[in-house]
Amino acid sequence: MTLKKISLALASVVALPPMFAHAAGPEVTGPQVVQALEGAFGVHPGERRNHTKGTCALGEFTGTAEAAKYSRSALFSGKAVPVVARFSLAGGNPKAPDVARSPRGMALQFKLPQDKVHQMAMLNTPMFGAASPQTFLDLTLAQRPDPATGKPDPEKLKAFKATHPDSLAQAQYLASHNPPDSYAHSSYFGIHTFKFIGEKDKVTPVRWRFVPQGGDKPLGDEALKTAGADFLEKALIDATAKQPVRWDMLVSVGQPGDPQDDPTQPWPANRPEFKAGTLTITSASAQKGAACETVNFDPMVMADGIAPTNDPVLRFRSQAYAVSFGKRLSGQ
Ligand code: HEM
Repeated sequence: MTLKKISLALASVVALPPMFAHAAGPEVTGPQVVQALEGAFGVHPGERRNHTKGTCALGEFTGTAEAAKYSRSALFSGKAVPVVARFSLAGGNPKAPDVARSPRGMALQFKLPQDKVHQMAMLNTPMFGAASPQTFLDLTLAQRPDPATGKPDPEKLKAFKATHPDSLAQAQYLASHNPPDSYAHSSYFGIHTFKFIGEKDKVTPVRWRFVPQGGDKPLGDEALKTAGADFLEKALIDATAKQPVRWDMLVSVGQPGDPQDDPTQPWPANRPEFKAGTLTITSASAQKGAACETVNFDPMVMADGIAPTNDPVLRFRSQAYAVSFGKRLSGQ
């Protein structure tokens, strides 16, 4: 990435198009959130400001004819599409322990024909912990370590929870679901509602998730104590060296009244569902120097056939990712 491209990315953050300014609310900006992440987790030059610890992977995706009925995206042409992937732990700590009760991430960049790109960046929780960028900012500010203890102030965290009910469902989910024993043994959820655009511009509201063909395998309570801080990367490298690891992409179709702009509210479980494709991960490696390291997995990067809703969190993500991306690529 040239300095010119970085400055263009940053310029697009400073001069926000009205869509972003409106959706995010005037008070929260990308630079503000990234500064808060740096306050909570420190600055690790050249690294992502969130989801800092991670592992690169490569593979392919093949879509189904069923999905092609709802979306004209080249993702669902039935031909294999190359994928650059990254698996990660949420938070800005590059040494986060792999047993942490925090979300795991799976980010995918699909390389479509004619140099088109589609991206997804998902978590292993069915809901997000913020209905607005403000809640994300407030949590990140509350996580800033107290200089006296080196840890977040429990009173501030308590006050955050009491004043941000939209954060509770994800926190409860994380508290009641042990983290996976491998990145390969976890489901990942798109969380936001997206629009599948079909023939004649027919719009279908959808949510998707990727379910591992080998099943979800959380760490047991005992393993949680003994697994150590750094097993996830090795487990993925070893698993893919033996054989490809696969996920089914499952898509739920929204019904009238289902929330479309609130990522903290999952849809009822009984929504019509179809298999939209298979993701096959064939290799994995440490992130330094690998293909995923320099990718900005902005989830607003979408090719024709899939479009965003007005979810303010989805729309805000672009500007936060651009700030983090610009900083890390320029060595900050
Ligand atoms: C206000 C809400 C959010 C903010 C401010 C935020 C911020 C960020 C930032 C700054 C990065 C690092 C970007 C980079 O340097 O490339 C990041 C990465 C990531 N985020 Fe978010 N995020 C938000 C919501 C979400 C949601 C809702 C999801 C899942 C649905 C998500 C999943 C991820 C994943 C998987 C990564 C790692 C991507 C990679 O591997 O490069 N984030 N986030």
